Amino acid sequence: MNEISILENPETTITVAKKQMYIESYGCAMNFSDSEIIGSIMAESGYEYTNDEFGADVIFLNTCAIRDNAEQKIRDRLKHLRHNKKKNSDLIIGVLGCMAERLKTKLLEEEKLVDIVAGPDSYRDLPKLVAEVEDGSKAINVLLSREETYAEISPLRLNTNGVSAFISIMRGCDNMCSFCVVPFTRGRERSRSAESIVQEARQLSESGYKEITLLGQNVDSYLWFGGGPKIDFKKADVAQQENAVNFAQLLEMVAIVDPNMRVRFSTSHPKDISDDVIYTMLKYDNICNYIHLPAQSGNSRVLEAMNRTYTREWYISKVERIRELIPECGISCDIISGFCTETEEEHKDTLTLIEECKFLFSYMYKYSERPGTLAAKKMTDDVSEEEKSRRLSEIIVVQNRVSLENNEKLVGKTMMVLADGVSKKSDNDLTGRNEQNMKVIFPKEYYKIGDFVKVKIERVTTISLIGVTVIN
Ligand code: 5AD
Ligand code: SF4
Repeated sequence: MNEISILENPETTITVAKKQMYIESYGCAMNFSDSEIIGSIMAESGYEYTNDEFGADVIFLNTCAIRDNAEQKIRDRLKHLRHNKKKNSDLIIGVLGCMAERLKTKLLEEEKLVDIVAGPDSYRDLPKLVAEVEDGSKAINVLLSREETYAEISPLRLNTNGVSAFISIMRGCDNMCSFCVVPFTRGRERSRSAESIVQEARQLSESGYKEITLLGQNVDSYLWFGGGPKIDFKKADVAQQENAVNFAQLLEMVAIVDPNMRVRFSTSHPKDISDDVIYTMLKYDNICNYIHLPAQSGNSRVLEAMNRTYTREWYISKVERIRELIPECGISCDIISGFCTETEEEHKDTLTLIEECKFLFSYMYKYSERPGTLAAKKMTDDVSEEEKSRRLSEIIVVQNRVSLENNEKLVGKTMMVLADGVSKKSDNDLTGRNEQNMKVIFPKEYYKIGDFVKVKIERVTTISLIGVTVIN
């Protein structure tokens, strides 16, 4: 615990101990962004962030429930935290986020050392929940909200490089993809006020940040009309509807905050991304030409079973449209292998989709049945684990080949890179991202983290581009 002095007069100096919180984030960018909201809420009630888990009074695990192995990871971590609790019997352990929401009281019953269970919409309640534990009881809040967006909370930037930051623009998801637990753990979709998002972007620019990423489960259905969550839009009055802000408009409002600050966004849904969004990307140089566009499968029957509401052909036509308007636009993908009833032929359609769409990279997963989802209720998880693994490794082989082919075409090209770290292999090299979100490694010379650097690519691997700096 840190001792801090709150009164300067030496005769009356009182030292109070600021309590320390330690937060660990798992899963998607949204969770990392939420942890910064949690940090801010706790800081307001007197907690200080520490990187030292053994010096902490409170440890929060901000968890993911998207696949079974994500939850297993948390269970393993909880086992380790027994040591922390042995060293400090007053230590409070909270499990927050999607796994907390999914398991609710069951988590308190199954994991005895957990004191707090809090779902994604109950973070404002955390100081109260901590106080309840200090009073000797276990504490839980897993209520989901239709309104909560934490709009006015200024996130406490954690583990930041001072260069890139996330801005959460909406919460929840209404899509109900049949494999996905997110609509159950994060609740209904709701958008955050455009004004508060622009304000956060402004603050980040003023603090010297060079890149922001607008985050949502489905950013293309962002819609703010000044009256509350999107689900009430039809009930809004005419003036509110006329003043509504959609995602393309929000993107523009954020892009003009600072023309020297890069703007990214994630995640896009193929059914919702509009031409307007693509035109806005074209209009502003600081909006990165990169779209994360999960397909999940390359086969139309499987896509229907997944309730993705588009076909293979529709997906390909979206990719073609994006490339027609922005030829250099990088596109990446999420893919699931071995979804219920997927045949060998249907799996092969996923392989050809990767070839056809030439994804820069993909996040690739084996299907993991999640209790409560439509697939778990209505379908049979009938592709064996071995078969899922085999299909996944085929997907990875094809994606790696496509990535390498894409990258090889970049040898000799010059690109603008935002330096965001020091290379793990050599202190003499910096790493950064180009507009298409690809990792670039180059000599440090006199450059520093946060600089935009022109780099000429000399050689490539599947996952990175290696080059030399070029003077303008
Ligand atoms: N099994 C495997 N992968 C899943 N995803 C979502 N739910 C599951 C599941 N049950 C993947 C999807 C999604 C990404 C965030 O996680 O590809 O886009
Ligand atoms: Fe899950 Fe589908 Fe929503 Fe993405 S769009 S969070 S996959 S339900």
